[in-house]
Amino acid sequence: MAQATNELTPMRRQYQQIKDQHKDCILMFRLGDFYEMFDEDAKLTARELDLTLTTRDRGKPKEEQTPMCGVPYHSVDSYIARLVQKGYKVAICEQMEDPATAKGLVQRDITRIITPGTVTESCMLDENKNNYIGCIYGESGKFGLAFCDVSTGAFFTTVCSDAQNVASELGRFAPSEILRYGSNVDCEIIDDAVFRRLNCCVSEGKQELFALESAEKLLENHFHATLSQMGIAGMPAAVIASGALLQTLLTLQRNDLAHIRELQYYTTGRFMELDLDARRNLELTETMRSKEKRGTLLWVLDKTHTAMGGRMLRSWLEKPLLDPVEITRRHGAVEELTDNVIVRGELEQALRDVTDLERVQTRIVTGTVNCRDLLGLARGFRALPDVKAQLQKCDSPLLKKLEAAIDPLTDCADRIENTLVDDPPLTIREGGIIRKGASEEADRLRDIMEGGSGTIAAIEASEREKTGIRTLKVGFNRVFGYYIEVSKSFIDQVPANYIRKQTLANCERYITQELKELENQVLTAKDRLTALEYQIFTQLREYLAKQAARVQQTAAAVAAADTLCSLAAVAVQRGYCRPEITLGREITIENGRHPVVEAMLKDSLFVPNDTHLGAEDNQVSIITGPNMAGKSTYMRQVALIVLMAQMGSFVPARSAKIGLVDRVFTRIGASDDLASGQSTFMVEMAEVATILKYATSRSLLILDEIGRGTSTYDGMAIARAVLEYAANPKRLGAKTLFATHYHELSTLEDKLPNVKNYNIAVKKRGEQMIFLRKIVPGATDDSYGIEVAKLAGIPAPVITRAREILAELESEGVVTAPAAQKEPEDQVSMMDLTSQQVVAALSAISVETLTPIEAMNELYKLKKMLD
Ligand SMILES: Nc1ncnc2c1ncn2[C@@H]1O[C@H](COP(=O)(O)OP(=O)(O)OP(=O)(O)O)[C@@H](O)[C@H]1O
Ligand SMILES: [Mg+2]
Repeated sequence: MAQATNELTPMRRQYQQIKDQHKDCILMFRLGDFYEMFDEDAKLTARELDLTLTTRDRGKPKEEQTPMCGVPYHSVDSYIARLVQKGYKVAICEQMEDPATAKGLVQRDITRIITPGTVTESCMLDENKNNYIGCIYGESGKFGLAFCDVSTGAFFTTVCSDAQNVASELGRFAPSEILRYGSNVDCEIIDDAVFRRLNCCVSEGKQELFALESAEKLLENHFHATLSQMGIAGMPAAVIASGALLQTLLTLQRNDLAHIRELQYYTTGRFMELDLDARRNLELTETMRSKEKRGTLLWVLDKTHTAMGGRMLRSWLEKPLLDPVEITRRHGAVEELTDNVIVRGELEQALRDVTDLERVQTRIVTGTVNCRDLLGLARGFRALPDVKAQLQKCDSPLLKKLEAAIDPLTDCADRIENTLVDDPPLTIREGGIIRKGASEEADRLRDIMEGGSGTIAAIEASEREKTGIRTLKVGFNRVFGYYIEVSKSFIDQVPANYIRKQTLANCERYITQELKELENQVLTAKDRLTALEYQIFTQLREYLAKQAARVQQTAAAVAAADTLCSLAAVAVQRGYCRPEITLGREITIENGRHPVVEAMLKDSLFVPNDTHLGAEDNQVSIITGPNMAGKSTYMRQVALIVLMAQMGSFVPARSAKIGLVDRVFTRIGASDDLASGQSTFMVEMAEVATILKYATSRSLLILDEIGRGTSTYDGMAIARAVLEYAANPKRLGAKTLFATHYHELSTLEDKLPNVKNYNIAVKKRGEQMIFLRKIVPGATDDSYGIEVAKLAGIPAPVITRAREILAELESEGVVTAPAAQKEPEDQVSMMDLTSQQVVAALSAISVETLTPIEAMNELYKLKKMLD
C-alpha cells in the first residue's frame, strides 16, 4: 500500500524521490551491503530473478508492509545482467558518502543506468558481438539513423530514403535497443523489424530531444568538429538522430563519454545492401531454425583470436563493400597472409595474447574498471610490439597501414604494472591494490601500519642521541599506547618535554607529543592508506582515459589484422581462391562450393559447380531438378560466394570473377508467419513485391520456388510473370537464379534471349536414386517427388497410392508433362511409372525361395499392374 509521503521514514522519502525520476527503470537502492528494491520493483525483480520477497516492517499489519527484496552488493552485476537481458532498464543508486561518518541520512544518488543497448560490463556482453543502441528520427518521408556501441565507442549515422531502407540498416546493426521519434517511425515495416525480427527494447523519444539546434551544438561540442567536418552538413535528419542518441547516452551514463570520439557518417551506398530476409535466409550469423552460430557463414569464417577481431569479422560480414579498391586491398592482405604461412603463424600467436582493449578502455572512461581489468589490459598491451613486428614483415598496403596504426602503448603498460600489485582484489575501494614502491607516501603509511617498526626505531635512535640516554627504549602498551622508557639511573637526564605516565620498580615511562602523533598515525594509517590507494588508482585511470584515442586506433588495427588472419587461415584450410572483382555485370564461378554445406558434410564430398550469370545470353537461370537435388544449395552458394568476395574474403571455388553486386535479394522456401497474422502465401508475395520494387540491374536475385504456396495455375502464372519482369532489361534486368518445380517455365528459354535452363542431374538405378549434384544445361521434367517421399520414410501404402494417383493424373493430362528439352548425358530417360513399378516388384522377388504356386501368384500380380 502506498503511504502518504509525510508518513514515510526519511530514507523511504529519499527513495521515493529518486524513484519518481526514474519511473521506467528498476531502481536498485544501496543500503549497506545490499542493493534493495521496493514496492512494484521488488515484486517484479523477485519474480524475474527468483528472489525472496521480504519486508522492512514486519511488525505492521500485512497491508501496510512495503514489499522489498535485495541482492548483495558484490554480486550485483550478475543480477543486473539477467534483468537487462530480459529487456529491463536498471538504475543504480549509490551511497554518496560513508554511512559511518555521515551525519543523519546518507546522501544517495543515481550513479549509472543500465539498459540493454548501453551495458558496458563485460559479463553482460557477448564478446564477439557489438552491442548497438539505435536511434531513428523520421521527418518528411526521410529517416535519420544513428547507432552507437557504447562498449567500444563506435558511432555511426546515415540517412535513409524509406522505411525499407531503415529496416535493412537495422538488420545490419541488429541493435538491442531503439529510441525513435518523428513521422512514420512506427510504420508497419519498421515495427516489424524492431519488434518481430530484432526483438529489441523500444522507447518512444520525447520531442525536446529531437531538436536540430541543440543536436548540432551537442555534436560539435562533443566531437570537436563542425558538421561539415563530420560529413553531415545539410543532413538535418542525421544530425537530429545522432544528437538525440548522444544526449540520451550522456544522460544514462553520467559521464562525458570521451571514448566516443568519432561520428562516422556512411552512405548506404558504401555497403552491399542485404535486407532482413536475405540475412536470415543466407544464414550469415545465425541459423534459421535454431538461431545458432554453428552452421552459419560466420561459423565457417571465424578463426579469430581476439574478441575485437571476432566483432570486426562479424561486422565485415554484415557490411560487404561496394568499392572495388577497398575490396581488393583486403584481398591483397589475405593473399599475403595465405602465402606467408610463417608470418601468419607468428602473428596469430601474438594476437592470442591481446585482450579486449576496446571494452576495457571504455570501462576506464566510464569509470567502471577494476584493477584486474587494468592488469589484463597491460598484458594485452605487452603483446602489441610483437603484433607490430610481425606486420612489419608484410608488404601489402593494408597490412602496412595496420602496422603503422598500432601504437605499442608500452608507457601505459609500464604505468599500470608499476602501480598495481600482481594479484589485486576485485574491489578498488578497500586497499591492497597499489604496489610497493609506486608511491612513497603509500609505502610510509604501510610501514606505519605494519607496526611502524622503522619509524619507532628511528624515534628511539633520535631520542637516545638527543638525551644521551643509552638505555632509552620506545615501547607500546594497550593502556596508553606508545611510551618512552627510561631506567631510574638516567632519570635526571630526562628532558622537560617528556610527560610522565607510569612509574615501575626500576624505570619510568613517558610520552611525548611526537609519540602521540605517531600513535595517531598508526591508528589512522589503514584508512588513510586505503583512501590514498584509491586516489592513486583514480589517477592511473584518468591517465589511461586520456589515452583513449591511441588505444582505440590500436584496437581497430589489431582487430583488422586478426580478421584478415582469420580469413587467410580459412582460405588455406578449405582451399579457397582469390576472387577477381570487376566493374562489369558478370559473375563467373568455376567449381564453386557452398562454404557451409561443405563444412558440415561429414562422410561425403561436396560436388562443385560452375556459374555463369549476368551475360547477355544468360541474365536469368531457371533451375529445375528433383527434390533434394541441390537447387537451393546451389543458389545460396552463388549468393554467399558473391558476399564473401565483397567482404574481402577468398571464396570456395577454383576461380571466381565477380562483377560488383549492389544488393542480394532472396526469396527462399515458405516460412509460415502465424505470429504476424499473415499467411504463408501472403508473406511470400510481400517479399517478392519488395524485391521487384527495390532490385536494380546490379542486384542478384535468388528466387526459390516462387508461387508454391497457392494453386498450381495461379502460382505458375505469378512465377512466370516475375521471371519475365526480372529478365526484362527495361524493367530489372537483374542477375537472377530461379529454382522451380514448374517445368512449364522452361519454355521461356526459347522466348527470352537472356534466359537459360539448367537442371541438377539425378540418376536412377532401379529403385535407388543417385544424386549427382551436378548442374547441367537444359531442363528436366521430373520431380521424383514420390521417390524422395519414400526416402523420407513415408509408409509404403501411401507411396503406392501416390504413384497410382500420379499415373492417373498424367494419363488424364491434368499435369502436362512437357517433353525434356535437351537431355543431358547423365540424365536417365523417364520410364513409364507402371513399368518402373513392375521392375521394382520383380527385383524384389527372390526366385530361389519361391514355390511354384507363389511364382504363379506373383506373375498374376505383375500382369495386373501392367493392365
Ligand atoms: N553440390 C553438392 N554436393 C554435395 N551435397 C549437396 C550438394 N548440393 C546439395 N547437397 C545436399 O543435398 C541436400 C538437399 O539440397 P537442397 O535443399 O539444395 O535440394 P533442393 O533441390 O532445393 O530440394 P527441394 O526441391 O526439395 O527444395 C543438401 O542439404 C545437401 O546436404
Ligand atoms: Mg529447395
